[in-house]
Amino acid sequence: MTTHAVMPPESTKTPVPVIAIDGPTASGKGTIAHRVAAALGWATLDSGALYRLTALAALDRSLSADDEAGVAEVARALDVRFYGGRIFLENNEVSDAIRQEQVGNFASRIAAYPAVRQALLERQRVFRVPPGLVADGRDMGTVVFPDAALKVFLVADVQARAERRCKQLIEKGISANLDDLLRDMRERDARDTQRSVAPLVAATDAHVLDSSSLTIEQTVQAVLDFWKGT
Ligand code: DC
Repeated sequence: MTTHAVMPPESTKTPVPVIAIDGPTASGKGTIAHRVAAALGWATLDSGALYRLTALAALDRSLSADDEAGVAEVARALDVRFYGGRIFLENNEVSDAIRQEQVGNFASRIAAYPAVRQALLERQRVFRVPPGLVADGRDMGTVVFPDAALKVFLVADVQARAERRCKQLIEKGISANLDDLLRDMRERDARDTQRSVAPLVAATDAHVLDSSSLTIEQTVQAVLDFWKGT
């Protein structure tokens, strides 16, 4: 006799929960997302890393940031692996290389292209696995996971963010200048906010959380409190 697994009808399946944490560059999204995920035992998606990986691969191929079709092809063919907090591009570890400011600025430029965003869309959605996902980026709550169970829009004033980024880079042994970082960050904020496709904007149902004067622990706790309250 053949037995068939009884599957619940599509409409009664509970979707894997997602906590979306969006916000501007250096708002602390990545750190907060990792700590929230660790507290809940969930997976993480650093969506900015995919844009940075695309940027690095395009730079390696000497592509121009104006070449939308060429960069979109790179995004589609991206050979990446995320492994225990480390990131590999074509089998080379690039965990630190993608954090360079030059790569971040290139990433911000190519992220404005619809073809690049489309190429990365499904790649992001496959990270949604049980028991849950904490995803950070710019459009997690608006475009990639519009049905996220909790949406947080993390903000911090630009001076606080530039100081944090400066400290991070110096700790990694990468040279950094606060004035240059402030200028780049303002430019990047403007580009991320003003682009026509998936701009950086809080979802209408997002909790806006200002971390300028909060510690990492307080910010994580605030997100966990939002989650408990859902
Ligand atoms: O979060 P980050 O600084 O690592 O992201 C690098 C760039 O990638 C950022 O300037 C804009 C882009 N990005 C995006 O457009 N959408 C996302 N979901 C994540 C990042």
